[in-house]
Amino acid sequence: MAVQRVAVIGAGAAGLCAARHILSRPNSFARPVVFELTDNIGGTWCYDERVGSYDNGRPVHSSMYRDLRTNLPKEVMMFPDFPFDPQLSSFLPHQEVQRYLERYCHSHNIRPHIRFNTAVENVKPVVEEETTTWEVTSCDSSGGQKTETFDSVFVCSGHYSDPHIPDIPGLENFKGEVLHSHSYRYAEPFSGQSVVVLGAKASGLDISIELAKVGAQVTLSHGRPRLTFPLPSGIRQSSPVVAVQDDGSVRFQDGSVGRADVLMFCTGYNFRYTFLDADQLRLEIQDHMVSPLYRFLTPPALPSLFFIGICKIICPFPNFDCQNFLEDDPGRLGLILHVNLPFNLLCRLLVVLSHPVLFEDLQWPPEGAVPAFSADAVFYRPAAGGALIPCQEVEEGVEPGVAGGQRPGDLVADGDSLHGVTATELPTPQEQEERPGHMERQEAECKQERDGYDGFDGFPPPPDIVGVLRARDGD
Ligand SMILES: Cc1cc2nc3c(=O)[nH]c(=O)nc-3n(C[C@H](O)[C@H](O)[C@H](O)COP(=O)(O)OP(=O)(O)OC[C@H]3O[C@@H](n4cnc5c(N)ncnc54)[C@H](O)[C@@H]3O)c2cc1C
Ligand SMILES: NC(=O)c1ccc[n+]([C@@H]2O[C@H](COP(=O)([O-])OP(=O)(O)OC[C@H]3O[C@@H](n4cnc5c(N)ncnc54)[C@H](OP(=O)(O)O)[C@@H]3O)[C@@H](O)[C@H]2O)c1
Repeated sequence: MAVQRVAVIGAGAAGLCAARHILSRPNSFARPVVFELTDNIGGTWCYDERVGSYDNGRPVHSSMYRDLRTNLPKEVMMFPDFPFDPQLSSFLPHQEVQRYLERYCHSHNIRPHIRFNTAVENVKPVVEEETTTWEVTSCDSSGGQKTETFDSVFVCSGHYSDPHIPDIPGLENFKGEVLHSHSYRYAEPFSGQSVVVLGAKASGLDISIELAKVGAQVTLSHGRPRLTFPLPSGIRQSSPVVAVQDDGSVRFQDGSVGRADVLMFCTGYNFRYTFLDADQLRLEIQDHMVSPLYRFLTPPALPSLFFIGICKIICPFPNFDCQNFLEDDPGRLGLILHVNLPFNLLCRLLVVLSHPVLFEDLQWPPEGAVPAFSADAVFYRPAAGGALIPCQEVEEGVEPGVAGGQRPGDLVADGDSLHGVTATELPTPQEQEERPGHMERQEAECKQERDGYDGFDGFPPPPDIVGVLRARDGD
């Protein structure tokens, strides 16, 4: 059987991981061609002070900001077979993650297979009887185009680069600066300004805290349950923005009206694959949904195209590692799909288990807020030690089994105790409906979950992760 030729699009964490697994199976796979549109590896983790476009006119890829610290502890964030430096703290500055990826790239000798400054512009399936091959057209820094044929394509181009800006009526009337977190780098320019931050997930919370530190007056506008953990004094919470009025003032869902110097959209990102033709692939690609994808990975009609790391509520690096774990069957380019879901579940469980242990080392310094975690099944180990307690017993009203956001069943860290979010803390359906774009987004994400989920058959987790779990459990 001839070796398979694989194109990998992107040299971020997902692309490096794909290349590493392909390179480790020389009997099955030719050396991969990794296309990377920038001049470096790391993707998101390659901090670039530039915003807008590169000199060649292509949009800046990374959404990294200067003072970001990771929101997953390194013990959970790492590729399972490649630990971070044990001397480092748990929540790392982004430079350490970039160094880690450079070490990963070096130790697996991936760099010789990367074509830097080369953008993939088109990926086209060529279906002939039983076989499908892929024509990949790329463009290098001199503008030279090239089309090559591969047996398979791994899409590792990331999905945190194309800003999602909700449709807010009258936005064009706003007189101040309108910015998305994608183009935020540091807080100093906003010192003394009044900033409405829209969205209170990782970007919204992080950036609000940074802004408050430099003396900005922050209105954190969101439709999530009111945050109950301590926020720095410069931050007040408000309901979602529903419109910008003719005179440039901002109207909130509760009827209040306010003025601001800056509207900072921390409203997430769109899926965007400029090099794919969705119709050709029989896919639907919307802002918040790519469907149908068998197990979030591959279009059923063309199962030699793989989207690595497309899920949002995951531990990204371990997820990439599972998705890229190629079977040693030279006859097919199969992936071990079944570890995908249980593995994510276990990683999230690990976050919760390790939380009491890692609490002294926070992502945010002490005056900042503390993070919320979620998991499908949650056990809590009291700080004083002792047996694991199923989370229903931590506080009444906690219902394990709901994943994502701050919903019933989530755990919220508050001081050094954990408590659950109950149904009464959720926004009412009416409040949810009134938020611009919210329902469409939720529906798209639910559909993505439904279509991507193809049965959870309870496979055991990979052995090395069980090891980590045992270590944390003091076993
Ligand atoms: C602000 C921020 C903070 C985050 N913090 C954490 C965290 O603390 N912990 C964590 O685990 N995850 C975090 N994440 C998630 C993060 O995105 C993942 O950890 C991971 O970096 C994603 O890797 P990726 O390879 O899928 O995508 P990316 O890192 O985005 O890499 C994609 C690569 O593909 C290249 N590319 C794109 N299009 C093309 C093309 N057409 N042709 C050629 N190359 C192309 C890009 O240049 C880039 O190098 C964060 C994300 C953001 C935005
Ligand atoms: N420190 C860190 O490590 C760090 C920092 C930043 C980002 N990140 C990572 O980067 C990725 C992206 O995070 P993100 O926070 O940028 O995006 P995100 O997770 O998609 O969150 C966007 C938020 O915006 C909300 N939203 C949408 N429209 C809104 C509106 N009109 N008004 C108010 N809120 C609105 C969404 O609410 P609904 O969902 O309810 O619609 C959602 O809560 C994640 O993986 C995250 O972990 C990590």
